[in-house]
Amino acid sequence: MTGLKIALIGSTGMLGIDVNSTLKEAGFFIQNYNSLNLDITDKGRVMASLMKLMPDYIINCAAYTNVDLAESEKDKADGVNHAGAKNLADAAKEINARLIHISTDYVFDGTKKTPYKENDEVSPINEYGLSKLKGENAIKESGASYIIIRTEWLYGKNGKNFVNTILKLADSKKKIEVVNDQFGSPTYTKDIASALSEIIKKDNGSNEVYHLTNVGTVSWFEFAQEIIKVFKRINCEIMPVSSNKFIRPAKRPANSVLDCSKIKEHYKIELRNWKSALRKYCLDIGYFMS
Ligand SMILES: NC(=O)c1ccc[n+]([C@@H]2O[C@H](COP(=O)([O-])OP(=O)(O)OC[C@H]3O[C@@H](n4cnc5c(N)ncnc54)[C@H](OP(=O)(O)O)[C@@H]3O)[C@@H](O)[C@H]2O)c1
Repeated sequence: MTGLKIALIGSTGMLGIDVNSTLKEAGFFIQNYNSLNLDITDKGRVMASLMKLMPDYIINCAAYTNVDLAESEKDKADGVNHAGAKNLADAAKEINARLIHISTDYVFDGTKKTPYKENDEVSPINEYGLSKLKGENAIKESGASYIIIRTEWLYGKNGKNFVNTILKLADSKKKIEVVNDQFGSPTYTKDIASALSEIIKKDNGSNEVYHLTNVGTVSWFEFAQEIIKVFKRINCEIMPVSSNKFIRPAKRPANSVLDCSKIKEHYKIELRNWKSALRKYCLDIGYFMS
């Protein structure tokens, strides 16, 4: 098992950094790529680099992730999230590698009243979501061997995320307004990274889409309240507001909750509850030690 060679694309991103350390600890050989040493929009370089390495797995954590900017930079978003994903899939097919690709809840429109299943109708409401969906479809049509993991509301030590934003705001403000009409499952990047390691160890070789998040559903407002509690920013009050109050360039789905029962059934993988994950994050970034 430890002899497996993995090409990690997007190794400098919030998720990619945790995937790199977790898979290295698990004993896999990892070759790291970021936009500087392998631009995935460059089809020729993608093919040449991966043909040289001949990995068993390609894990794609690379993406254009600025959801609001994607509205005005849709060609850029499409280049990375669609064409880039297709280039990786074509290379995976050519060298007979298995592609594990990370995708998003934003492929859905958020109007469903219950958690989304993998085969529910997709209908993105912003350019980022559309580019990610096109990436998924290109992988499925490429003939490559693949697993697509849709996740959401990620936070981790090495990136811009909601937890860190709330903590920063709480240090300078007495009140913070947070939307209470968008629901999802906050997910710790280290938990996704550990699950990827498990998936590779138990891989059944089948081409599938899976949903994977920490367990439990909250609004951004409730999530912010828990962050304040766990990180003991007690002097700051979180105020609930409607998303109508924060008009942003890109629309967000109201319901982002993903049903993760398929990966539990196929791989016996279930991530911990989002509250436990947040506490673990708090410990991991050394809050209690400072
Ligand atoms: N963050 C979330 O809440 C969230 C939610 C749902 C799904 N996801 C998905 O999870 C995955 C990881 O997200 P993240 O938040 O970790 O992203 P991130 O922190 O923005 O990292 C993106 C990574 O992609 C690389 N990259 C960008 N353009 C590239 C290009 N043209 N060629 C090669 N590499 C390129 C970046 O490399 P450089 O550092 O060199 O630029 C970086 O390593 C993505 O697929 C994203 O769509 C994220």
